[in-house]
Amino acid sequence: MKGFIKSSIGKKLIMSISGLFLITFLLVHLTLNLMLMFDNTGELFNTAANFMGTNPIMKIMEPMLAVGFLVHIIYGAVLEIQNRIARGSSKYAKFDQKKSSKWASRNMIWLGIAIFAFLGLHVANFFMKVKFGGVAEITIHGVHMHDTYTLVTDLFAIWWYDLIYVIGAIALGLHLYHGFWSAFQSIGLSNDIWRKRLEAIGGIYAVVVAGGFAIIPIYFLIF
Ligand code: HEM
Repeated sequence: MKGFIKSSIGKKLIMSISGLFLITFLLVHLTLNLMLMFDNTGELFNTAANFMGTNPIMKIMEPMLAVGFLVHIIYGAVLEIQNRIARGSSKYAKFDQKKSSKWASRNMIWLGIAIFAFLGLHVANFFMKVKFGGVAEITIHGVHMHDTYTLVTDLFAIWWYDLIYVIGAIALGLHLYHGFWSAFQSIGLSNDIWRKRLEAIGGIYAVVVAGGFAIIPIYFLIF
């Protein structure tokens, strides 16, 4: 088992499983965040965010999510270093890679680094403030909770902050476009027919996620 995890295939499998977990998280996170645009009193978003932050299932999921991100980032970096070393020792592999790969697949590591930087800023400004203080409290229908709506909308009133979010969403979309079908391929759930289908589904997923995350800061910039 230890040997398998250390092998290239084992590492790719771990990347895929953690990636699919993160893909699911992003859909849930996006659904919640879209509520920001549908009620400008903030009641809808605050109530949903409070539910997510207080229910026991989410309390279990939170550390799992942190582990999922860490595993995905660490194994991604290790695989990239190994691939670079392997490519360096083989002229053919280097040539083949450039010719056959699409831009996103060749730049997964750079897209990953951009998303990592975005995530650092995002977690510091949102998650840390909600968890460790710095967010006003509000009472909605007798329930006391954080006013996360005001935290988000105050930050999205700053144009360059919105720009960072739009760039982060585009980087995320490109990373997901390649990552989606690649994850299924690595766990053995892809063949010639399904590869095309998964690429199409991955494309739709990437556009929905990137578009969804980008439209929120743009909305608050305009309205
Ligand atoms: C419009 C874009 C986004 C908004 C408005 C937003 C909003 C938020 C808020 C308010 C929190 C704190 C939730 C709480 O603890 O109650 C949060 C946490 C978090 N966000 Fe985002 N987010 C956005 C985009 C993203 C993106 C693109 C990613 C991933 C690349 C991401 C990953 C996370 C993670 C990992 C956490 C910490 C875990 C959690 O609280 O669920 N977010 N986000």
